[in-house]
Amino acid sequence: MNKKKWLYVANWKMRMSVNEAQVFCVDNHNELIKLQNSSNAELVICPEFSTIFPVIQILKDTNIKVGAQNCSQFKQGAYTGEVAAQSLAQIGCSYCIIGHSERRTLFGENNETVAQKTKRVLEHELIPIICFGETKKEYEDEQTNMVLEQQLTPVINVLVEDTWIDATLCFAYEPIWSIGTGLIAESTYLENIFSFITDLVGTRLPNAQIMLLYGGSVNNNNIKMLKKNSLIEGFLIGGASLDFQKFQKIVLYK
Ligand code: PGA
Repeated sequence: MNKKKWLYVANWKMRMSVNEAQVFCVDNHNELIKLQNSSNAELVICPEFSTIFPVIQILKDTNIKVGAQNCSQFKQGAYTGEVAAQSLAQIGCSYCIIGHSERRTLFGENNETVAQKTKRVLEHELIPIICFGETKKEYEDEQTNMVLEQQLTPVINVLVEDTWIDATLCFAYEPIWSIGTGLIAESTYLENIFSFITDLVGTRLPNAQIMLLYGGSVNNNNIKMLKKNSLIEGFLIGGASLDFQKFQKIVLYK
């Protein structure tokens, strides 16, 4: 039996309203506790900002963690519409997704802002889930390794310069062409990419506590292949996390 402690992060994006998210957590409350207890896993739910606190309240008697999907790159000040990492920590968040491809593509985030956000999150003892991945074109042009290195190097530089070298971090590899498409890379491709990422982050941050996640169309059909990859330690799950039964199957697959 695989004794690995898996991390499952449900990224609900902007797909559940406050009411829907509360109903999901209340209706599945007992099942979520059972799931957490029966699996060797850490479960993290990332609802939209307005829903974080209500979800924390509903799940407060469980070991299920709650995370944000984003935070400000700034500490505090005149930044209308931004949400500070400090506030996320104060309301009880444990994790924060950073640099998701939708943030990069639709909201202009770049590697530098991702690096700043990572610092903000670490300053408040949240665990960052740093997302990165290549486009379809980059994948087809076999540029993935180069692109991943370009995305990760500014973040790693900031961590090294600011002595966050022993931080706890999650790195989530999400090929953009795989997110929400049902498409998934071949297992050999993923093995090569994860070994490249392991070398890249492991060499520069040898003392950090790092977990490597995969994200992009994770479902109960491909979880078998994904869990065979010895370097993958968890999953960032979008669509399939909105349906408790589907999420449960992914978590329970051994
Ligand atoms: P998906 O989304 O599982 O729906 O592909 C994953 C993500 O965007 O994090």
